[in-house]
Amino acid sequence: MKLRQWSTVGLVAVATVATLNTVPATASRPYDPTTQSLATLGLRHGLHVGTAVNMDALNDASDPQYRKLVSSEFASVTAENVMKWESLEPTRGTYNWAPADQFVDFAKRNRQSVRGHVLVWHNQLPAWLTSGVADGSISKQELRELLRKHITTVVNRYKGKIWQWDVVNEAVSDPWDTPSTLHYKGFWAQNLGPGYIADAFRWARAADPKALLFYNDYNIEAFGSGNPADDKTQFVYDMTKSLRAQGVPIDGVGSQGHLGTQYGNFDTLQVTAALKKFSGLGVATAFTEVDVRSQLTEAVQAGNSEEINPRLQASAANFSVLMKACLAVRSCLSYTVWGFSDKYSWVPGWFSDPPEGLATIYDENYQPKRAYQELKSDLIFAGPPYVLPRIAPKPRR
Ligand code: XIL
Repeated sequence: MKLRQWSTVGLVAVATVATLNTVPATASRPYDPTTQSLATLGLRHGLHVGTAVNMDALNDASDPQYRKLVSSEFASVTAENVMKWESLEPTRGTYNWAPADQFVDFAKRNRQSVRGHVLVWHNQLPAWLTSGVADGSISKQELRELLRKHITTVVNRYKGKIWQWDVVNEAVSDPWDTPSTLHYKGFWAQNLGPGYIADAFRWARAADPKALLFYNDYNIEAFGSGNPADDKTQFVYDMTKSLRAQGVPIDGVGSQGHLGTQYGNFDTLQVTAALKKFSGLGVATAFTEVDVRSQLTEAVQAGNSEEINPRLQASAANFSVLMKACLAVRSCLSYTVWGFSDKYSWVPGWFSDPPEGLATIYDENYQPKRAYQELKSDLIFAGPPYVLPRIAPKPRR
């Protein structure tokens, strides 16, 4: 009985398709998801697919393709550099808002959500700040007050325009650091102690009651041994749990997703399990800076396809692992790539010994790579019952 019903439905469906195929050529074409942007395909699931934006490239009149792709392919944007402290306040007391304002206005015109990056980080700090602390002319007490003022000023300026703020970035060490036991590392922990983390979230919340406040870090895509002394994901999980228990207004944990094909990385189920475990703390999750680099051997640089192809394939597979895991977990609100074209990727400039590159989803001539197509197909083929719309938390008071 059931079977007969199904076959009837099948017949009706076939008849409908046949009718559609005979409509005149002037009628609209059947829906073809492969022609849709990553933005459109992601939004079917409530997922914002985003990119980091290089403002020099965006303003380069000789390269209109960059601007076109930022606005057409992505639903969310992150400033690659212009919201960092050294860029915003190069001289003490004098804020240079123009590039960050331009970035936020661009997003608004294109109806894109904005990830604010970044309020507290040990890198790209203004020289006046680091040298002032080093020579003792800025005391610890004054430093804490400068941080409070910075957070308050920046969050206030963009209040209501930022969806997610990276409040604290990369606060935790790696197993290859000294000492190898995981600890709070860098300028802020050294000068203020780890209490700056809770302070930063509270100051950000006081300035914007509605933005989602994130902790952001790398090498936290999957759990390892489960021992916080050597498992960075576990360390960050324990930190988040304890911040939540203290009532600190942390709403999300961002996993940067800087991967390399030489490391093998993770499978989809490992990454899904990690996102789910973080969600269990009541926080949102996101992939915030995804790229998958490869070593540029001499043969790769000489254009040897036998060495290039497996790298492009492995890169695509890793992009896809993170995307599938994100789709599978409803707290995973956004998937941001750290630049979309190899033309402007930070990788060759940053990882040069040995040289690395090929890390993004378009090549240097804006041709989509296999990684782009795999992200697209992940978004196209996803749906109920395994993939359900996103659930965002209410900003914590
Ligand atoms: C990088 C930028 O892409 C570079 O242009 C800049 O020179 C250095 O910083 N983790 C982060 C990002 O949180 O802010 C970094 O961005 C990449 C690593």
